[in-house]
Amino acid sequence: MQQTLTNQIAIVTGASSGIGTGVAISLAAAGATVVVNHSSASSLENAQAVLKTITDAGGRGMTAQCDVTNEEEVEKMFADTVDIYGTVDILINNAGLQRDAKFEDMTLKQWQTVIDVNLTGQFLCARAAIREFLRRGPRPEVSKATGKIICMSSVHEIIPWAGHINYASSKGAIRMFMQSLAQEYGDRMIRVNSICPGAIQTPINTDAWNTPKALNSLMTLIPYNRIGQPEDVGNLAVFLASDLSDYITGASIFIDGGMTVFESFSTGG
Ligand code: NAI
Ligand code: BGC
Repeated sequence: MQQTLTNQIAIVTGASSGIGTGVAISLAAAGATVVVNHSSASSLENAQAVLKTITDAGGRGMTAQCDVTNEEEVEKMFADTVDIYGTVDILINNAGLQRDAKFEDMTLKQWQTVIDVNLTGQFLCARAAIREFLRRGPRPEVSKATGKIICMSSVHEIIPWAGHINYASSKGAIRMFMQSLAQEYGDRMIRVNSICPGAIQTPINTDAWNTPKALNSLMTLIPYNRIGQPEDVGNLAVFLASDLSDYITGASIFIDGGMTVFESFSTGG
């Protein structure tokens, strides 16, 4: 892979699984030093395996345990990264989860857990990243931008999702969060964008792909007729983190095999 991120430091939240793992490996392959965040002691082994994949391929990085909803832990992850590597250049705000329920059955806990991780977690990490970018100032020797934040949103920032109202609400909110941040810090040369994946094959949506029947049903929503892979998202993250996308900020980039062109209308309407 082209070394577009040489000498840059990236934190990837929720990197011990799924899309976060794919993004961490891709950023490292592009030359970034990667902090592989994992949420708890139980995900340490997976995070270490991701780090091993990175270092076996000649890359650099470390693991960092931090629950993104915990302010102290987030502050510590950023402080440790700055202590060890000097700064942070790229934040991939990826950690997220679903707690699905019919709306009338949805508990406050299911609502709150999703908002806490998917929205407040992105707030805490982005705030820590912005503070570090402002403290450190420009690093023109590594990037035209002073810092880059990439928010992992979803096609569900624009596609309503019955049975997942907490999740769709969190991703809809990320759209305004990302755009307002891009507006507030554009003049400091900080770029903020969102990646909006469609169905990517990870543990979050096992039910959508783990039987032929489920996969066939999923394909009716995807014109390109395949499920996405974490590496697809990793490639886009590298582009958005690099100077190749230097004039892109405040954008939601969809990576969905065409899910947002509404396949069901190909023969109807
Ligand atoms: P996943 O379940 O494989 O990974 C989610 C990661 O977030 C895990 O590593 C988990 O430990 C971490 N996480 C959850 N709570 C956390 C916390 N409090 N602190 C730190 N980390 C925490 O699922 P996937 O698919 O990789 O999801 C990653 C992101 O991509 C999420 O934001 C999700 O909403 C988004 N996404 C996923 C799509 C898909 O089809 N797989 C499509 C669109 C968006
Ligand atoms: C969800 C997945 C779902 C995909 C497409 C993502 O945001 O997390 O469960 O498969 O959107 O609907």
